[in-house]
Amino acid sequence: MTKDEADRILREHGQEHLLRFWDVISAEERAGLLEQISGIDFDTVEKMKKMLADKDKPAAAVQADMEAAPVSELDGEARDAAYRDGTFELRNGRVAALVVAGGQGTRLGFEGPKGCFAIGPISGESLFYFHARKLLALERRWGAPVPFYVMTSQSNDAATRKFFEDNSYFGLSKDNVFFFTQAMWPALDAAGRIILDAPGHIFMGPDGHGGTLSALKKSGALDDMVKRGIRSVYYFQVDNPMVDICDPAFIGYHIRNLSDISVKVCAKRDPNEGLGVVVTSGGKSRIVEYTELTPEQKNERRADGELRFKFGSVAIHVFSTDFLIREADAGLPMHIAHKKVPFVDEGGSVIKPASPNAFKFEKFIFDALADARTTVNLAFDRQQEFSPVKNADGSDSPETCRKDLSRKWAWWLESAGIVIPFDRYGYPLHSIEVDPCFADSPSAMKIAVEEGRANINPQGDILLKCAE
Ligand code: UD1
Repeated sequence: MTKDEADRILREHGQEHLLRFWDVISAEERAGLLEQISGIDFDTVEKMKKMLADKDKPAAAVQADMEAAPVSELDGEARDAAYRDGTFELRNGRVAALVVAGGQGTRLGFEGPKGCFAIGPISGESLFYFHARKLLALERRWGAPVPFYVMTSQSNDAATRKFFEDNSYFGLSKDNVFFFTQAMWPALDAAGRIILDAPGHIFMGPDGHGGTLSALKKSGALDDMVKRGIRSVYYFQVDNPMVDICDPAFIGYHIRNLSDISVKVCAKRDPNEGLGVVVTSGGKSRIVEYTELTPEQKNERRADGELRFKFGSVAIHVFSTDFLIREADAGLPMHIAHKKVPFVDEGGSVIKPASPNAFKFEKFIFDALADARTTVNLAFDRQQEFSPVKNADGSDSPETCRKDLSRKWAWWLESAGIVIPFDRYGYPLHSIEVDPCFADSPSAMKIAVEEGRANINPQGDILLKCAE
């Protein structure tokens, strides 16, 4: 793209300010800026501007008629049957795992890909380590690999790939790990103008995990899934090391219900917990994000005292591959958020704002629920599977997550007959950490203990690693 072409397009869309430092930036910066401009979809920017103009209009129609969605629980024979079907799929290599790891981890305040964050209570191993080792354990258990699709964004893709390389893919075969990158979008100021974060550079942020759908197609990951005969894709977020990746019962339940998207849900800890809630609206299942619920909706109670919108999604889904193929070109709606974005002032200095100054736009993958023919919501015990790392301290922080991990592994050891000392809040007195390849379930732990592979002193920290 030439400068004249850029000038024309920018004028058409009221964005000519993007070239205002043209005379003072270097040749390299000019080339970079033109490349950025040529990569921007200005039709989407027009939609963003319209959304910005309408942002104070009343909530979307989906919220007007929404009801709490039905939620299932699985136990007894139904659970056994679902488990059997799920293991059949795993044994036959028909299941893939997909982690969304393109986010920026702003709340955690961690520079670099969030998946590299050290979460192991004793070893300090990373979030990626625990996810990848679970996949390796699954491969060993069921005798078929579970291909791992890792969604990154342009800002963390190279660092993520390097981290996997540096750690020898945590034991996984490189051929079974597929990185793909989501698209990036500009942010707008209150007047609808695209923001420069340097005189020769446009601020760009990831387009939200809704970008997974198109990125899967564009990158060839979807074709790769088809080639490998994958029927179900187990989707989760990088921030939750407690996730039971490829839980066979959940996969089996999804398949038995011929579901397009299945959603794991748990009861919210409190009305303000940051979970999207599962609802039905217009005869369809949906998730309404916590940021889009009014305080009244968050706090509303039923006659029996329970929250009306009690069940939150923890962003653990099973997608059928057929649905991902059908949905690859779907234009998911955009969501708007007021955020802090660095910008250049008129003099060309870069300013880091202290309060929100910009509007960022994102697509949410769960909006695809509206296009699904069948969906199911399955409840689970959050103490076993959910403790995300979101904030630097307080709730959902590294500290709470490490405690929850230690407690979960303490329960496994207890059920294998080891006496573990607990404090009065129900957490083990000492830190505990288990490599998923050493044991990935209470039953695997029991076998390890019975076989004498677990060398344990319950009076101190316990680190159980797999002797490869
Ligand atoms: C998210 C969900 C919320 C759910 C909660 C459970 C959204 C919008 N909301 O909230 O419904 O109840 O998790 O923990 O996701 N990501 C990308 N690319 C992006 C944006 C995000 O890959 O462009 C990834 C992040 O790396 C992260 C995950 O998506 O793994 C969640 O993003 P985050 O912004 O932290 O969502 P929450 O507000 O915590």
